[in-house]
Amino acid sequence: MKIIKEISAMQSISEYYRRIGKKIGFVPTMGFLHEGHLSLIIKAKDECDIVFTSIFVNPTQFLPGEDFKDYPRDFLRDYHLCKSSGCDYVFYPDADTMFPENYFTYVNVNVLSDKLEGMFRPGHFKGVTTIVLKLLNITKPHNIYLGQKDAQQAAVLKKMILDLNIDVNLRICDTVREENGLAMSSRNMYLSKDEKDKASVFNFVLNEAKKMILEDKIEDMNVVKQSVKNIIETKTPESSLQYIAITDNNLLEDIKDIKNYNGEVLISLAAYMGKTRLIDNILFKK
Ligand code: PAF
Repeated sequence: MKIIKEISAMQSISEYYRRIGKKIGFVPTMGFLHEGHLSLIIKAKDECDIVFTSIFVNPTQFLPGEDFKDYPRDFLRDYHLCKSSGCDYVFYPDADTMFPENYFTYVNVNVLSDKLEGMFRPGHFKGVTTIVLKLLNITKPHNIYLGQKDAQQAAVLKKMILDLNIDVNLRICDTVREENGLAMSSRNMYLSKDEKDKASVFNFVLNEAKKMILEDKIEDMNVVKQSVKNIIETKTPESSLQYIAITDNNLLEDIKDIKNYNGEVLISLAAYMGKTRLIDNILFKK
């Protein structure tokens, strides 16, 4: 496995593999890899001939006061994990390479980027879409692999790819969870053992909400949301729910008439466990 730091070198490598007819899979990451990332690399290897993984803690998707400086970084650990999962090339640029002085260009998916996470992290998705478009232009993959854990990120990037006619196939892969149901995330390392145990409540309530809709046939989504809030408050007073939303999975619009709705239902939430902000979701067909 090779480490590439320069944009032009990464582009040449991609062009070479394209020229000889190889299929390229790309997994963008911010490093501190966990099994969720590794499952994406393994899937990419399964479906493609060559796998590129990027490791770049993208400053433009963190808001002032967020954890950019503290975000966990351990390149050596990531290197070994990438290698043992079948990655062929790691693109590991410096911040100055990606965002040199006088960098002015950003891409934004309007409307979708302002919902859900966007209400609490304004500007976050503009940073995500910009870096992912840059990475796509650098790695030029046939397939890009993202986790369903970041459901809104997946929806926003799907829309960017569609709206900008980007020639890449988006593969969204299942969330990988700890044994207790907690969605894997690099930020889980901020949690104490006790907080990690208690954070299983978020996956639990998402499954309860799904049951309320599919089995109990509750039609008022406010009732479902209120029940979720009550369960979280009762079971884990040390956590606080920031939002819970029940939307479609494309435009992320609230589902008002669930009885006559036949698409995919996305229930997403953000909550604090202690000082750590976590997100999770469940996606199912009505
Ligand atoms: O999901 C992430 O880790 C990041 O948002 C991504 C897609 C690598 C862009 O920085």
